[in-house]
Amino acid sequence: MTTLLQAIDLHRTYRVARGMFGGHADVRAVAGISFSLNPGETLAIVGESGSGKSTLGRMLTLIEPPSDGHLFIDGIDVSNIGRPSKELRSAVQMVFQNPYGSLNPRQTIGAALEEPLLVNTATPARERRDAALAMLERVGLRQEHAGRYPHMFSGGQRQRIAIARSLMLRPKILVLDEPVSALDVSVRAQILNLITELQGEFNLAYVFISHDLSVVRHIADRVLVMYLGRAVEYGAAEQIFAAPRHPYSRALMSATPVADPRRVKERIVLKGEMPSPFNPPSGCVFHPRCPLAFERCPQERPELTGEAGHMAACFATEAANSPL
Ligand SMILES: Nc1ncnc2c1ncn2[C@@H]1O[C@H](COP(=O)(O)OP(=O)(O)O)[C@@H](O)[C@H]1O
Ligand code: SF4
Ligand SMILES: [Mg+2]
Repeated sequence: MTTLLQAIDLHRTYRVARGMFGGHADVRAVAGISFSLNPGETLAIVGESGSGKSTLGRMLTLIEPPSDGHLFIDGIDVSNIGRPSKELRSAVQMVFQNPYGSLNPRQTIGAALEEPLLVNTATPARERRDAALAMLERVGLRQEHAGRYPHMFSGGQRQRIAIARSLMLRPKILVLDEPVSALDVSVRAQILNLITELQGEFNLAYVFISHDLSVVRHIADRVLVMYLGRAVEYGAAEQIFAAPRHPYSRALMSATPVADPRRVKERIVLKGEMPSPFNPPSGCVFHPRCPLAFERCPQERPELTGEAGHMAACFATEAANSPL
């Protein structure tokens, strides 16, 4: 079986103007990310705001090319593809955190759903309309909603519409960038359930981006934890949730509530804030905030090590069965 999506050492650097004298600086938003994703699987990408998750998502959906590294979709190297074909663009779709931004306020919901078919396919008008109505129902809305405008819907309904739109071209991969972060807690579970149901029905592979580990806990097959553009931990969700190896993952985990009250957790509070990607710390980029840092950490950068099913980039916990 070909891996559906494979990222090899992806980088994305932005050159931004700094100061009044024409100076500039490079922001390494994504600095060497590798992973693979099989059909029907869910990879969760987790990290605090600013860790490079959305930038990675934009590369995966061909909105921006990588500055370096390779990206394969269905075995095709799309890293330097220029203008991707309609087939390729259809294969990967994105759902954004804020569906207000992605839905045109002056377009009816029906037209918004038909648009991807209109632009990318030769589907006749009647079939487009039927497909849009069927998809509206599939995401839990009603056919008569097709004539209404985005502002007439609640946040949860708008996210249903955005998801429906992303599925019109029958993608193989959906990149969901914080799809429930802007929603009330009460509707989050409903939208997560919908996302889970649709995955089975459409045999979708998901890249699910979130700053909140508790959200991905029940839907992720694999987890990639990012910090300042780098992967600090990557592996099977079960293993990472049972025994996170990187101090950053442990801190993220300790901040999320546990369902089982008998499992008492020690809460790890991270020191300070995430440093600026303009000027990342030397060695292990996490060292200024790490409770386990020792003299080697500011001097050398740890690589991801461990078995393929569970890798972490940390000197203190790289030995198997580390007591830490
Ligand atoms: N177009 C851009 N130009 C300059 N810097 C950017 C751009 N997009 C993102 N960045 C910077 O890259 C870093 C990662 O951003 P982002 O990918 O949005 O992270 P996340 O989604 O994890 O919050 C941030 O420091 C952000 O300011
Ligand atoms: S390498 Fe050092 S600073 Fe980095 S996470 Fe491990 S112990 Fe902490
Ligand atoms: Mg983001």
